[in-house]
Amino acid sequence: MKIYAHRGSSGTHPENTIAAFKAAAKLPIFGVELDVHLTKDGELVVIHDESIDRTSTGTGNVKDLSLAELRSYDYGSWFSSEFANESIPTLKEVLHVFKDTSHHINIELKSDIFPYEGLGNKVLHEIESLGIADRVVVSSFDHEAIREFKKSAPHIEVALLTMEVLVDAYDYARFIPADALHIFLPAAMRKMTKEALLKGSIIRVFTVNEIEHAQALHEIGVHAIFTDYPEKMMDFIGPHN
Ligand code: G3P
Ligand code: MG
Repeated sequence: MKIYAHRGSSGTHPENTIAAFKAAAKLPIFGVELDVHLTKDGELVVIHDESIDRTSTGTGNVKDLSLAELRSYDYGSWFSSEFANESIPTLKEVLHVFKDTSHHINIELKSDIFPYEGLGNKVLHEIESLGIADRVVVSSFDHEAIREFKKSAPHIEVALLTMEVLVDAYDYARFIPADALHIFLPAAMRKMTKEALLKGSIIRVFTVNEIEHAQALHEIGVHAIFTDYPEKMMDFIGPHN
């Protein structure tokens, strides 16, 4: 079972910051996950929420602020004063951290709340310009965006995110079409996961921070987990699995 650092090493560093990604990049784990939104002036930035209220010293929605405005706030001190002055990174800056590593990169398109016109195409351009298409998986709760992305870039792996307990998840993923399912932990413990695995789905589960849960998922045959504590999970699963 493979390990992805969720929002970077976000249990020990402020999520989705360069500090969190540099910490993840040093680890012999399989991959990393990050969330992408679009600013008012059309720049790709890495942050989880639609708004900057929870993880910065500022307020407002990413879509209503320019990159320069977003950059005027601190995205580290909410977590710890040790990380004061961490900025909001662009997608390019985050991908640069993994330029010379072999980590698999999960780019989550956060267009399920605000549609962010053109988000998928901009992300595709970034992936192609860095030549990392073979080690990227693009995911979203916005399954329309995944369908569109796959149409534009059939060579890049895509995954459907779901919090729901689905019936025939394997068939649904083929219908989109998507290459993998990224499932919320409580739903992953249900029948749907075993059935989809039996039919041949690639299944990755978020967010797995407890060893007991990792153990249970490992036994079911889940392919990977997203965790805020990659080092702790590495001690259990072993590196580079
Ligand atoms: O991609 C897995 C996970 O990150 C999805 O949920 O809310 O943490 O982005 P969220
Ligand atoms: Mg995410």
